Amino acid sequence: MTGTPESARGFEAAEGHAGGKLILLGEHAVVHGEPAIAAGIPAGMRVAVTPRSDGRRTAAGVDVTDMRLARAIAIAAERLGIDAGQGFDVSIAGELPDAVGLGSSASLSVGLARALAAATRTTLRGDDLAAAAHAVEGAFHGTPSGVDVTTVLQGGLGWYEVGPPRRWEALAAARPLEIVVVVADRRHDTGRTVGSLRERATARPGLYRPIFRAIGDLVREARSAIESGDLRRLGEAMTLDHGLLRVCGVSTPVLDAAVEEAVSHGALGAKLTGGGGGGAIVALAEDGGPSLANVLSRPGRPAFAVRLPGG
Ligand code: MEV
Repeated sequence: MTGTPESARGFEAAEGHAGGKLILLGEHAVVHGEPAIAAGIPAGMRVAVTPRSDGRRTAAGVDVTDMRLARAIAIAAERLGIDAGQGFDVSIAGELPDAVGLGSSASLSVGLARALAAATRTTLRGDDLAAAAHAVEGAFHGTPSGVDVTTVLQGGLGWYEVGPPRRWEALAAARPLEIVVVVADRRHDTGRTVGSLRERATARPGLYRPIFRAIGDLVREARSAIESGDLRRLGEAMTLDHGLLRVCGVSTPVLDAAVEEAVSHGALGAKLTGGGGGGAIVALAEDGGPSLANVLSRPGRPAFAVRLPGG
């Protein structure tokens, strides 16, 4: 890692920010070697770190009680070569709802690595930042594919494969994509949905492997639809992908209903996004994302439009 530890180097108050992400197609199957298509979104997490003289490490003044957050902070500090006796406080402000599939953990991981690097005046090369952020994200999600952190770091619309090595390829959409995000269901735990699907898939590969391959085929189909501007074909691939995620057991009745509602209000396609088991859906608007978002939002169920440029 560039600029690493003369461990006696200083520690000063600093901030790090990172955006969020949405997965257009391919979540879960991507963990099992299939490609995914994802996009960075500007809303994300801001992490501030301030030194403490008592050697404690706290989040917003309170000793870290969430074990995963504590582990994430420990991993980030170790990766940055920060002296074990250096105390600091971490405060986290989110423009992103937490744990709904929009990349809050990945955004926090990248923001934390950036904040600690700035606090110690460490210059991180892109690869070092990615390695640190992937390691930190593991504290939240167990065995992530890396699509979330990679998308947050790359931004824009892209194609991701877990590898090894991990591969990101920027995609050029022939037409802008008007995506509506609906935060439809309760918060979820991606580590748990990934872990339980992995257990089922490992126990019965003959049942799950063909489903993952079918999801991969939909992702390939979606790529060609994005690159040729065929929004109807893209929407159809998204809704089919939702059906496959549903049979994999990672949807919920609330997400299924939100998908149906989006389609019945004119969305070209819709699906859960991210880990599932709760969280958000994404819908593809024919045009006018904001007006579809308006129709789909209601008290306690925010919806917002994201325009991915094209053409
Ligand atoms: C979570 O945003 C995406 C999943 O595919 C998990 C992963 O790829 O790490 C569900």
